[in-house]
Amino acid sequence: MSAEFQGLNAVVTGAGSGIGLAVARALHAEGARVFGLDLAQGEMSGVATWISCDVGDLDCVTAAFEEIAKVTDTIDIVANNAGIGAVGSVEDSTEAEWQRVLNVNVVGISRISAAAMPFLRRSNSGAIVNTCSIAATAGLPKRAVYSASKGAVMSLTLAMAADAVKEKIRVNCVNPGTADTPWVERLLSQAKDPSLERQSLEARQPLGRLVSADEVANAILYLANPRQASTTGTILAVDGGMQGLRLPK
Ligand SMILES: NC(=O)c1ccc[n+]([C@@H]2O[C@H](COP(=O)([O-])OP(=O)(O)OC[C@H]3O[C@@H](n4cnc5c(N)ncnc54)[C@H](O)[C@@H]3O)[C@@H](O)[C@H]2O)c1
Repeated sequence: MSAEFQGLNAVVTGAGSGIGLAVARALHAEGARVFGLDLAQGEMSGVATWISCDVGDLDCVTAAFEEIAKVTDTIDIVANNAGIGAVGSVEDSTEAEWQRVLNVNVVGISRISAAAMPFLRRSNSGAIVNTCSIAATAGLPKRAVYSASKGAVMSLTLAMAADAVKEKIRVNCVNPGTADTPWVERLLSQAKDPSLERQSLEARQPLGRLVSADEVANAILYLANPRQASTTGTILAVDGGMQGLRLPK
């Protein structure tokens, strides 16, 4: 087993399920100590120390970093991955939904990153990786609130990268296409014909299948790796070609 992240401390939000769980597992396998911040422990037992935290609540985030400070004063990696979805056009979307989704998906990243900065400054290789989405760069139907939140995550990534660059803290994001996680399973289960809906999501990605959580995790670890010391302010698509390719039918 390689141990590329041996001795490093990582915070992963949304580590209990899906992409965050895959990131926690991969970092653990590579030797990192992982703090998993999530509403629930989910499946992270054995790979991450669960700290109960709602990234949508400042007091929760402050308390989570007080817990971390009891163990270490240094964080090397922050994977801002916790996120929630919303389905609908602007006509379907309520004020409460706008507030809820932007609060978790966008302000949540700001809260966690701000709390982590003093810890990241003590690292020799501080890196933040945000989980953005294809929804930031392509217009998808019935995803108004969610897409707006991910567009904001993309811009926030660039702004944070500019602010942190002099301190040698790198900030990047990944843009997954539709990924095979419990999130998508939940969405499919609400469709009239889940298997037909799955086929249409698979066909939307030029590689003809959904992205795996491990593939997104690999991209996050690539960006978090201290060896990528010159990579900051980048947006890495992990979307089966969905954003960049135009194929003849
Ligand atoms: N699955 C996809 O197709 C896809 C595509 C593009 C981007 N993404 C993004 O990837 C990220 C992870 O999605 P996933 O598919 O793994 O979803 P998931 O639902 O499987 O996992 C999300 C995790 O985040 C946690 N979480 C939700 N709200 C939280 C909060 N307020 N505070 C702390 N934790 C919270 C959940 O408890 C859960 O463990 C999200 O940011 C999502 O927007 C997913």
